[in-house]
Amino acid sequence: MAAVPAFSPNPDVVIVGAGLAGLPIAWELLRRGATVRMVDRGRPGEGTSRVAAGMLAPITEVEPDDPVHLTLGQLARERWPGYVDGLRAATGHAIAIRTHGTLAVARDRDEAEALDRFRAICDRFGLATERLMPSAARKREPALAPTLRLALEIPDDAAVDPRTVTAALAAAVVAAGGTIESGCEVRGLVLDGGRAVGVERADGTTVRAGAVVIAGGAESARLAGVPDHARVPVRPVKGQLLMLRDPAGPGMVERVLRFGPGYLVPRDDGRYVLGATTEERGFDRTVTAWAVHDLLRDGSELVPGVLDLELVETLVGWRPTSPDGLPVVGPARDIDGLWWATGQHRNGVLFASITGALLADALTGDRTLPGRYGAIDPLAVVDPRRFASVTLDRDDPPARPTGPADDVRAPRKEDHAR
Ligand code: GLY
Repeated sequence: MAAVPAFSPNPDVVIVGAGLAGLPIAWELLRRGATVRMVDRGRPGEGTSRVAAGMLAPITEVEPDDPVHLTLGQLARERWPGYVDGLRAATGHAIAIRTHGTLAVARDRDEAEALDRFRAICDRFGLATERLMPSAARKREPALAPTLRLALEIPDDAAVDPRTVTAALAAAVVAAGGTIESGCEVRGLVLDGGRAVGVERADGTTVRAGAVVIAGGAESARLAGVPDHARVPVRPVKGQLLMLRDPAGPGMVERVLRFGPGYLVPRDDGRYVLGATTEERGFDRTVTAWAVHDLLRDGSELVPGVLDLELVETLVGWRPTSPDGLPVVGPARDIDGLWWATGQHRNGVLFASITGALLADALTGDRTLPGRYGAIDPLAVVDPRRFASVTLDRDDPPARPTGPADDVRAPRKEDHAR
């Protein structure tokens, strides 16, 4: 790995954040011969990655009328089966991709019209869908309520359990010789002569390295010590979700169901993720009664059996969101040695299959991803330097440059009726 200067015995690369961005990067760099140390204030995969629903849904979870986003999502989706094979081979962990597809469901006329508009967009991009009348949809998913109006099957969407993926990735990193330092609060970036040379821990000690990768989700943007001109304008978009469990085991619902503002994502073991709110509330972690109420109301309107499930967890996560909604992976503006890996917004799990390669290709100069995929250059569309510099109040997230109105009490149907 010629492009990474060695500072033996320091690692070639220190990665801040051991989640679904940092872990794939660590594993990829280790496989390319680098030495890697990860630091995380918690344990690997215990941050937003633990909250993620796990959809591999470049069609329903990515804006399908945004060709760049769609194409990047399709590249990531295409790489998932091979990625899981590699993880299994490296660790022996059992990871399964659920390939049952998505059923997007309309509950009233407005939602049915939105679904038909969505289908027209899919047709334009050559994406497979199947329009189903209620009886046909209920044959495929008998737990659906009879009040359903219309459904659209999207067969190419899939899902994984992000917790099994992060556990396998952490094991793969360790097996490949990486170090994961859990319980390590990072105070800030360390610069020397304008170059990033490491990070300072909260106890005042430092980890020095040839390169520093900030993969701290929405919090990446507020790391101390980063000059404003090198920061990235990533903000937290809060999501609240519920983890439900069927004591009778799996099988009540097989496909990912999407409805109005929400989704129900089945796991192989009888758990279901019911999500999610979309809130512009900065770094707020409150679980609110209205969110639990609205999620259960909407979910049970579509699948009445939801109310018989055990409520096992209430979850809050911060989607790391850039102004254009695309990931932010690559070199920082004008600071040698500093790299960003954030901005995955609603698709941290989907993009995990390419995040390692995106960052490692840019950092090492050894290109493994295609220079052209569809109409995009994957590295170029995620390059952090596409954004102008931002000025940040250290206590607050960056200002929201675009997006819905603040204080979104309840998610709007059009947010998800796609
Ligand atoms: N990808 C699911 C969500 O962001 O809610």
